[in-house]
Amino acid sequence: MTKNIHVKKWVDEMAALCKPDSVYWCDGSQEEYDRMIQIMIDAGLATPLNPEKRPGCYLFRSHPSDVARAEKRTFIASKKKEDAGPTNNWIDPDELKATMTALYDGCMRGRTMYVIPFSMGPVGSYISKIGVEISDSPYVVINMKIMTRIGTTVLETLGEDGEFVKCLHSVGKPLLDGAKDTEWPCIPNVDDKYISHFPEERMIWSIGSGYGGNALLGKKCFALRIAGVQARDEGWLAEHMLILKLTNPEGQSYYICGAFPSACGKTNLAMLEPVFPGWKVETIGDDISWMKFGEDGRLYAINPEAGFFGVVPGTSMKSNPNAMKQIQSNTIFTNVGLTDDGDVWWEGSGIPAPDHLIDWQGNDWTPDCGRLAAHANARFTTPAAQCPVIAPEWEDPAGVPISAILIGGRRKSTIPLVNESLDWNHGIFLGSIMGSEITTADITDKVGQVRRDPFAMLPFMGYHMGDYLRHWFNIGKRTDASKLPRIYFVNWFRKNADDKFIWPGFGDNSRVLKWIVERLSGTGEAVETAIGNLPAPGAIDTSGTNVTAEEMNELFKIDKELWVAEIASIKENYRSYGDRLPVELADELAKLESKLV
Ligand code: GTP
Ligand code: SPV
Ligand code: MN
Repeated sequence: MTKNIHVKKWVDEMAALCKPDSVYWCDGSQEEYDRMIQIMIDAGLATPLNPEKRPGCYLFRSHPSDVARAEKRTFIASKKKEDAGPTNNWIDPDELKATMTALYDGCMRGRTMYVIPFSMGPVGSYISKIGVEISDSPYVVINMKIMTRIGTTVLETLGEDGEFVKCLHSVGKPLLDGAKDTEWPCIPNVDDKYISHFPEERMIWSIGSGYGGNALLGKKCFALRIAGVQARDEGWLAEHMLILKLTNPEGQSYYICGAFPSACGKTNLAMLEPVFPGWKVETIGDDISWMKFGEDGRLYAINPEAGFFGVVPGTSMKSNPNAMKQIQSNTIFTNVGLTDDGDVWWEGSGIPAPDHLIDWQGNDWTPDCGRLAAHANARFTTPAAQCPVIAPEWEDPAGVPISAILIGGRRKSTIPLVNESLDWNHGIFLGSIMGSEITTADITDKVGQVRRDPFAMLPFMGYHMGDYLRHWFNIGKRTDASKLPRIYFVNWFRKNADDKFIWPGFGDNSRVLKWIVERLSGTGEAVETAIGNLPAPGAIDTSGTNVTAEEMNELFKIDKELWVAEIASIKENYRSYGDRLPVELADELAKLESKLV
């Protein structure tokens, strides 16, 4: 229970609406975590893994309709439609509340309502913020325990009158007449799921999904969409970025953020193993960065999360040895394969497929069956503190001073391996034109087209994208230009004529990081081009790779024809922002056009 009258009143009201059998206030203890797991083991929803192979690890299988964020069902219900902007789904907040109130009415019958007080960021940090999630899912409780700081100390910090973000979540499946869960509870029909944000009220309402960003409301819903609105109003940044610490052989450390769209390598980059002796990467965060100005006028970042919710398939000792070690214990696996000896297996693990396993849907699986053992968006939930290369200062309430921001998506052509922005405004321009080629996993009739994803925030915007980009310019005006991080546009995904990645990527990305910190310290060499500063020939050390000089040329080739097409596509995207397009962006685009032609 709590002394905070606002929390108490809200919990009472939501309990009256959702009508759970009981209300339970989470204290955040290990005993409580173990108890929640036991509830789900008893219900057949969780499988303990072999303790000799994966101590403290559990496997969950979600419903096949509930395996990823539901972008189509994600709403920004600002009072005015134009404040949600052209990139968001909007419903009038009163109408949406009426619809959802009807869905919430009695939705927790037969279940326990869990009250989860949580802090995004170290409890008590000036950058941290508090939320309270109400959920009827014990799976949400255990994931929130790993991903955030939950429990009694958070309520104490909130005090009698503190502010918090209201996060209401239900799987939307009441248990009537003593019924029991026989499978992952959710609303299977996607059009009946809602992941709704009321930005003016700092409130989130989610129903129908139990998976990831739809249900762990501290993550995308709060830490990006709602916090983004708070950041705009309060003068800071809430971003879809990893945070890493890079130390050179001289012992100088640099803190770097990186914005990449979902499944584009943030977790990999955050904990990469540099190829050069004496260089070290340590991890602060792998998905979200909150940045505020310190008294010295620099931007300081914290990781608001306490765990990593990472993509499992493709994680191997080759691609990410640190994550492999991290997920050896105390980890929740969702939607991977279960081997006959009680371990987990997934595609791209680098471990030969066993002759038989149980796949993510609970069916028998053999290597020749033609189905995936693990869902492509299977995830691990694992404590950040367990990362073998976690930086000692990862929980420093003061945050870490950011020297550079990397941005990048999946582009098979046009965008070079690395491009240094000329100044802050040019960096924002590069952030605004970021994007990824649409794959068959996305919208089928647009495969191959570039989807603009400014600063990797497209699915995570809580307001108008044009206003968001303007906010970046405003941030730049609040301090000396020399104190702002430098922005680097990278692209690990350029392909050759055979449709193969040219750049080896992963640990070899440390070659690019090395050039970047050489630039920051003034020793790295660059040539100014129409699109930005590119590394001087030879400035990126490729010794020990099999990347040829020709391929390096290809990685940095500025193809005029492709850039002309790029500019046309950027213009079209800019038009969608209407009169909210910052004039600085139109200016940057005009400059680029005049330099290229
Ligand atoms: P979210 O957790 O969804 O926000 O994503 P993330 O950015 O953390 O993605 P993650 O690190 O899980 O992305 C993994 C995907 O990126 C896999 O398909 C990897 O193969 C690919 N990837 C990561 N780094 C590289 C790289 O340097 N080169 C190439 N070619 N692929 C990479
Ligand atoms: C992403 O999709 O960018 C994620 C996973 O980090 S989820 O939390 O489900 O949004
Ligand atoms: Mn993410």
